[in-house]
Amino acid sequence: MCGIIGIVGTSPVQGRLIESLKRLEYRGYDSAGIAAQINGVLERRRAPGKLRELEAVLEREPLNATTGIGHTRWATHGAPTERNAHPHIVGRVAVVHNGIIENFAELKAELIAAGRVFQSDTDTEVVAHLLDAELATGLPPLEAFKATLARLRGAFALCILIGGEDEVILAARNGPPLAIGYGDGEMYVGSDGLALGPFTNRIAYLEDGDFAILDHDTARIFDQTGAPADRPIKIVPASAVMMEKGNYRHFMEKEIHDQPEGCQRTIAAYVDPLASLVAVPGGLDFSTIERIQIVACGTSYIAGVIGRYLIEQLADLPVDVEIASEFRYRQPSIRSGALVIAMSQSGETADTLAALRYCQERGMKSAAIVNATESTIARSVDVVWPIHCGPEIGVASTKAFTAQVSVLTALAIAAGKARGRIDAIEEARLVNVLLGAPRLIAEAIGLEDAIKDIAAEVSKARDVLYLGRGPMSALALEGALKLKEISYIHAEGYAAGELKHGPIALVDDQTPIIILAPFDSWFEKSASNMSEVMARGGQVIFITDPDGARHAPAGAKVVVTAPSSDPLVSALVMSVPIQLLAYHVAVQKGADVDQPRNLAKSVTVE
Ligand code: G6P
Repeated sequence: MCGIIGIVGTSPVQGRLIESLKRLEYRGYDSAGIAAQINGVLERRRAPGKLRELEAVLEREPLNATTGIGHTRWATHGAPTERNAHPHIVGRVAVVHNGIIENFAELKAELIAAGRVFQSDTDTEVVAHLLDAELATGLPPLEAFKATLARLRGAFALCILIGGEDEVILAARNGPPLAIGYGDGEMYVGSDGLALGPFTNRIAYLEDGDFAILDHDTARIFDQTGAPADRPIKIVPASAVMMEKGNYRHFMEKEIHDQPEGCQRTIAAYVDPLASLVAVPGGLDFSTIERIQIVACGTSYIAGVIGRYLIEQLADLPVDVEIASEFRYRQPSIRSGALVIAMSQSGETADTLAALRYCQERGMKSAAIVNATESTIARSVDVVWPIHCGPEIGVASTKAFTAQVSVLTALAIAAGKARGRIDAIEEARLVNVLLGAPRLIAEAIGLEDAIKDIAAEVSKARDVLYLGRGPMSALALEGALKLKEISYIHAEGYAAGELKHGPIALVDDQTPIIILAPFDSWFEKSASNMSEVMARGGQVIFITDPDGARHAPAGAKVVVTAPSSDPLVSALVMSVPIQLLAYHVAVQKGADVDQPRNLAKSVTVE
């Protein structure tokens, strides 16, 4: 989940490496470092903590070079200290790495027995030692690199400088993504297209097992058999503007506020507004699909659970949703005629990719709902359904979640239509409801001031319980996840029907109980749960709509009245108050909203 960048340049490289690392900081921010070659000698600057610490070091001790590599770290092996920060330099080799070298312990023991001395606790350092040892036998860089790669097991994206080879970078990919950028007399390599955005829009993506050698003019790419490989160069649109915070304090705040426009963009790609028809791209015929398996992690998984409610209800099409890390290892039985949908904002989550591959290898048709359309997942499937919400920078997902749910809603309508469960009149009604969702999301954002006040109370809590039924039970999970992620409050999300099977024991007058209950077919049941909680002294924050507010039992500590909405889009609308609550609790607690501790946005290791 680290970010890596390399530039074989013609002009000073330090500032550009930093600019790229800023774009990669979403991948990890435990430490950062850069290395370059000065008069044939490898030099590096590293600092624990956020990128600004490295910038401070570079201000005191700049690196004046035109070729260099950089890294921002999410620690796997070894604490986030300076000695464990990348680049790791051993003899003639400087290396930055994203991933895990799974056989590092065995390799390290072998290298130590051969007299090599390690300076860090990382798995990465074995790569530097192995390559340095190969170079010492007199092999040229590419041959030495090949011999080194043959020894490595695990997942890696590597970017390497060799002392004395001034104008060259070596790169390899096995698992985590790596993109090669083509410039004008300059070449680049980075974890994603976003990192290369400031320099070029001509990008080729390495395939698994590929390795490459870059000089000023080109990249020679080889596949895992060592044969030269041709990876197509694509023109990738620059998205620099979308990376600015504008007037907002945090990316998360901006991304919450971006949602009306973002969802509008998403929905516009999946319906024909003038004809009130659903118009899902990709040409998949839902009438031939017997079952859907959604695999995902984190917030994307929760979007999938909401999708299950919608698809089963509107299309009578069975949907299974599973956390990818569980799915991939439990040897699930695969049904012929089933479609796997990988749901991933980044399109790079290691477990989701592995679960997808498991299904593909067993002959399932595949689709992906992704934000990053050039990602590995997007490039691996039969059908891509983009969510069109623009780069999401805040680690806690917000606008990608509502965009994912918007796409799933459109898919549910399309599946219902294809399977004869929805007639033309109902299709037009549902499409118009969906088209109205961005306006309701905007109205829900209007609750921000009221939610700020509630956040002041919630920020004092040690534990929070979120409850809901139907799609709101999924949203309860999301509300709890958001609180944990960015405000470090212990929160549980529960299906309210399970209240009596455990969580009711947590109820006391210190624990805020947040109940999500729009006035839908589940409302009365949720209202009963509210009464049960209040009868035990529970402090209820009741998030509902105007009808729900009228029918709610008296006694809630606070009632939040979100806009009234059709059940088709109520999860979209109710997402907003839970996002705003987590955001304002985190702000009031002084937490680092966009870069919460220990987390990373893109989880490319399992
Ligand atoms: C991380 C992020 C979450 C995200 C999850 C899945 O945990 O912090 O925001 O939901 O990964 O990521 P994906 O890119 O696959 O949606």
